[in-house]
Amino acid sequence: MTDHNTERTHGAAEPGRIPDSGKGVGLYKSRIIGTGSHLPEKLLTNADLEKMVDTSDAWITERTGIRYRHLAAEGQATSDLAFVAATRALEAAGLEAADLDMILFCTVTPDQPMPSAACMLQKKLGARQVMSFDLSAACSGFVYGLTVANQFIRTGMSKNILVVGAEILHRLVNYKDRETCILFGDGAGAVILSRAEPGQSSGILAEHMFADGNLGDLIMLPAGGSAIPFSQRVLDENLQYVRMKGREIFKNAVRTMVQGCQDAIGTAGLDIGEIDWLIPHQANIRILEAVAKYLGIPNEKVVVNIGDTGNTSAATLPIALDEAVRDGRIRRGQNVLLTAFGAGLTSGSVMLRY
Ligand code: ACO
Repeated sequence: MTDHNTERTHGAAEPGRIPDSGKGVGLYKSRIIGTGSHLPEKLLTNADLEKMVDTSDAWITERTGIRYRHLAAEGQATSDLAFVAATRALEAAGLEAADLDMILFCTVTPDQPMPSAACMLQKKLGARQVMSFDLSAACSGFVYGLTVANQFIRTGMSKNILVVGAEILHRLVNYKDRETCILFGDGAGAVILSRAEPGQSSGILAEHMFADGNLGDLIMLPAGGSAIPFSQRVLDENLQYVRMKGREIFKNAVRTMVQGCQDAIGTAGLDIGEIDWLIPHQANIRILEAVAKYLGIPNEKVVVNIGDTGNTSAATLPIALDEAVRDGRIRRGQNVLLTAFGAGLTSGSVMLRY
């Protein structure tokens, strides 16, 4: 249960009130107080893919940077991966599931269309009966989710929000289509976004979110919704699998991420030289390098783990963030820029001080 009534009444007089430095009005700042991630054990290597489609380890490595991806085990669902990541994030934050007042689950591969993966996760975690919902923005899901959660913290509606990005994409991929099957993997990442204490400098500084539905046909999964419900035709025409125009996505991805990052950096009042870490959506090493190059951020400041994960859609950013926090690369007080693009076409960039 949220305590928004008392917060709204008394928020302005509280010492926790922090003047807003970014766009819009907010009573409080939010900060990440814990991260967690989980990659399933089973690996799908480039050598495995060589046996499945007309491809080669050399082509995949050179054109995408991916060496292997993790695959969920049979019987595992997306909320199972999310449960492990969320438990680790709670532990890192020093919180119990009962402390959460919202669960926001970013995914395009929920366990099933309903109930939501968020409600399934709430049950698995033993969390209270707090607002829990899924957010669908494909690979931009996590930055969209972080932005939504940030608004609830800023207004005083919530104090501790679990934001999860988790996917099992390998079940939506056609292992006869060499252009898509080499890219995707499974995984989960999570953060606890909480109200900052007075005097804490870390927090979300600025966001830039974008969507252009006119570009919806660049990547899509045609069947399974109300337009094309499941039928024999779906199976005959392989409509249950992801379809993609790779080259066009590539161009739009670089353009929208660079613009979004520049906007978020500007809104936060930072210079490019003040960015300590760029964490781009792990889609293709060449996309990551192009974004960093156009922004003028050196490669050594870019968090890259695509070689070991592939594209895990909404999970790539929280997984990369968690890895870089846990291995000590990202430290408190550093400026971290998250950016993503995905089906929709969606894109989003979040500038934060960790
Ligand atoms: N192995 C070998 N050859 C291949 C493979 C493969 N796996 N896939 C494509 N090729 C071939 C093509 O058929 C083409 O052959 P041709 O020259 O004889 O016609 C050649 O390689 C070059 O193809 P391109 O499409 O130009 O290759 P490109 O360098 O663009 O790489 C790729 C393709 C990897 C798909 C790239 O365009 C890309 O990463 N795009 C972005 C995709 C993406 O990020 N999708 C996720 C979106 S996010 C979301 O919401 C899920």
